[in-house]
Amino acid sequence: MKTPNLVDARKRTCSKVDIIRNFKIDESLKNIGKNKKYVVKTYGCQMNERDSENICAILEEMGFTKGLDIEDADLVLLNTCAIRENAHNKVFGMLGRLKHIKESRPLLIGLCGCMAQEEVVVSEIMSRHKYVDFVFGTHNIHELPNILKRVIDNNKQEIEVWSKEGDIVEDIPIKRESKFKAWVNIMYGCDKFCTYCIVPYTRGKQRSRLKEDIIKEVEELVKEGYKEVTLLGQNVNAYGKDIEGYNYNMANLLSDVAKTGIERIKFVTSHPWDFTDDMISVIRDNPNVLPYIHLPVQSGSNRILKLMGRKYTRESYLELVHKLKMNIPNICLTTDIIVGFPNETDEDFNDTLSIVKECEYDSAYTFIYSPRVGTPASKMEDNISLEIKEKRLQELNDLVNYYSRKSNEKLENKVVSVLLDSKSEKEGMLSGYTTTNKLVNVKADISLLGKIVNVKITSVKTWSLDGEIYE
Ligand code: SAH
Ligand code: SF4
Ligand code: F3S
Repeated sequence: MKTPNLVDARKRTCSKVDIIRNFKIDESLKNIGKNKKYVVKTYGCQMNERDSENICAILEEMGFTKGLDIEDADLVLLNTCAIRENAHNKVFGMLGRLKHIKESRPLLIGLCGCMAQEEVVVSEIMSRHKYVDFVFGTHNIHELPNILKRVIDNNKQEIEVWSKEGDIVEDIPIKRESKFKAWVNIMYGCDKFCTYCIVPYTRGKQRSRLKEDIIKEVEELVKEGYKEVTLLGQNVNAYGKDIEGYNYNMANLLSDVAKTGIERIKFVTSHPWDFTDDMISVIRDNPNVLPYIHLPVQSGSNRILKLMGRKYTRESYLELVHKLKMNIPNICLTTDIIVGFPNETDEDFNDTLSIVKECEYDSAYTFIYSPRVGTPASKMEDNISLEIKEKRLQELNDLVNYYSRKSNEKLENKVVSVLLDSKSEKEGMLSGYTTTNKLVNVKADISLLGKIVNVKITSVKTWSLDGEIYE
């Protein structure tokens, strides 16, 4: 068994990354899931959503069919997130439910994703959750067929987690969630090591995919009728920097993806550190690169930013935001913010409130700091009381919501372009996103599903808009 070691991950060397092509599932493994149903439950960010698209396709190639819910499944696999304590709690809560089901009938239970890369979690599963049949990590998804075979043959707990990031495996089968918009990985891992964050340990060092592979994937999506791609990475603007002598960066990639003719291109997440003027020009000059930028600030206080290891200052962040707003008309700017980082004073928190006021974000994901085992920040005293953390979060959310509503109000009675990508919960309604990533519910015929249409905004809420088709 290979278990992860969080501390050593920081010392890793930049070994060469191999690219494995023509991944195939052995014919002898293709019947394993016959007459069995699977359910994959996905927690966390888009990386995990994207990984689950591979996992589901692998399971289906092994003969499994998709079940409706856990009650109906022969195999339940939890693709987990480790970013905050509450993500952990959700997963352990779900494991409790699955254990209960398994007491009354056969059920295969698996756990993968970022929590599987944590030594503490793996130890706990081995000692206290023996009913979990198998665990694999973020670096060996392609091993799933072999792991499942061993689980079924040997009937004992199977744990295979690779501590070191593996090679890039191209051509893993994929079953995309949507027929209209697709996630396209452009890089894996992260080299930034923000002091609070577990991602560099659970996802390994930054590894960019080759531009040819990315462009080919987008070209195929265009042929299949996809309207939108979201280029995915923890820190997309550092694309290519990990490949020695690679004279090709995120601005080049965006520009080449734009040439494929795909109608909409988004990219997440941008780290303020690597955002270049060239990228701004490419976004400005290509109408299919959407004017939507998720630019996590985390804190407005220089003192806290330094403790977080974010590598920029409040001033340099604001300068970048100013440049973005000057160059990209109608830009939609969103962010992530953490409150209650160790030693955060009222003054630091006020700096966060004031940067929100200066940036007028369209929306923000806000979080209470959660210490993660093995990260540098977890060695600092978590010295802000939960009461203060919650009070700060509430105050911040009120401010963020004020600006969200304000930015939505600007769209009232305006005509916007919307990709109608799903059925709304309400009868006779479809929903989709504007070019500035705002959710719109529209009364529309089902035949418009998957189309980009003009919509007149008729009413505005804090988190969504209502509209009608505008001919
Ligand atoms: N790569 C992205 C985001 C990754 S995680 C980036 O750098 O911006 C998504 C968000 O979770 C982070 O932006 C941060 O706001 C939050 N987060 C990460 N670690 C956290 C922790 N230990 N406690 C609370 N929030 C955290
Ligand atoms: Fe985590 Fe920082 Fe990397 Fe984002 S850039 S994934 S916050 S270490
Ligand atoms: Fe969570 Fe892993 Fe994403 S920790 S946020 S699922 S990279």
